[in-house]
Amino acid sequence: MNYTAPIRHELEACTQMIAADLNHSNPLLNMALQTIKSRSGKMMRPTLTLLSAQLFAPIADEALHAAVAYEMFHTASLVHDDVVDESEQRRGHDSINHSHGNKVAVLVGDYILSITLRHIAATRNPRLIDIMSRAAGKLASGELLQMQGTHSSSLNEATYTEIISCKTAALFAACATSGAIVAGADEAGIGLMTRYGELVGLCFQIKDDLLDYSDLDIGKPTGSDLAEGKLTLPIIYALQQKPDVFQPIVDTIHSAGATPTLITEAIAATRQAGGIDYATQVMHRYAAEACQLLAPLPDSPTKQALIEFVERVVKRNK
Ligand code: IPE
Ligand code: IPE
Ligand code: MG
Ligand code: MG
Repeated sequence: MNYTAPIRHELEACTQMIAADLNHSNPLLNMALQTIKSRSGKMMRPTLTLLSAQLFAPIADEALHAAVAYEMFHTASLVHDDVVDESEQRRGHDSINHSHGNKVAVLVGDYILSITLRHIAATRNPRLIDIMSRAAGKLASGELLQMQGTHSSSLNEATYTEIISCKTAALFAACATSGAIVAGADEAGIGLMTRYGELVGLCFQIKDDLLDYSDLDIGKPTGSDLAEGKLTLPIIYALQQKPDVFQPIVDTIHSAGATPTLITEAIAATRQAGGIDYATQVMHRYAAEACQLLAPLPDSPTKQALIEFVERVVKRNK
């Protein structure tokens, strides 16, 4: 079974709601919004929101609005993230900052945030507004912590986990929590889904960081984390295991910048030092924990889809 099967129609409704919102009378804004509309992503966050809701009750309009709000929030965060990371490619095409410049990208991101707010308000649930606001705060603080932390050669695994927990897992946790809330789950059910979302989000970012070490076509540049001086779990592990080999590499990346040759060598050395295997193991540990959480729940197609959602996150190649 495909993990979207139980929510196929609702996900399609969300896609249509998003398409209806990504329009504007201002030609420049409209041009950027059309670009975003024509290149949709994997829709992981609305999928999680809807599956979490459906675990407890049939999906109602509030769940659709929450799912759209989270996809729009995620999209806005990508538009801003590409400005921060100076990334030129997103979803297989030029990023908004690359095609229209940073100023336009900041404002387009803000506009998409305004769509987010309208949909979260449409849930008419103050608790959801609170949850989304806190997740948004964590994402921004996580991106800032990353700016400060990942460029430091003393970065350790605990700080890395803190960064990805804030910048990525908090949003997945908010999606799963919000779905459960709009479906009227009890506090135990809501808490279970919060933890499930958090674990899936941690897996998701570790996988994203692993994909950056690959040479797959993932619709955005690979090797770019090291090029930006951003240290992620594979090289953090390698640095801890073999400081004599990796400290000079990391110092050069941070002082002189990384040439393509140095990046290729650093990736190969990280793989050899077991950094890729280690990060993969950590990801699988979180994935197993997420699936175990669901084990006591009664069997249903939605529960099965949530298990397959975890598998998709760890096996994805994009
Ligand atoms: C990219 O998220 C940003 C991260 C948190 C790693 P996705 O990989 O879900 O992006 P899209 O929406 O599918 O493009
Ligand atoms: C995740 O970080 C982005 C956000 C949480 C906004 P990355 O910088 O690794 O994401 P990509 O690789 O650019 O998609
Ligand atoms: Mg980025
Ligand atoms: Mg990345």
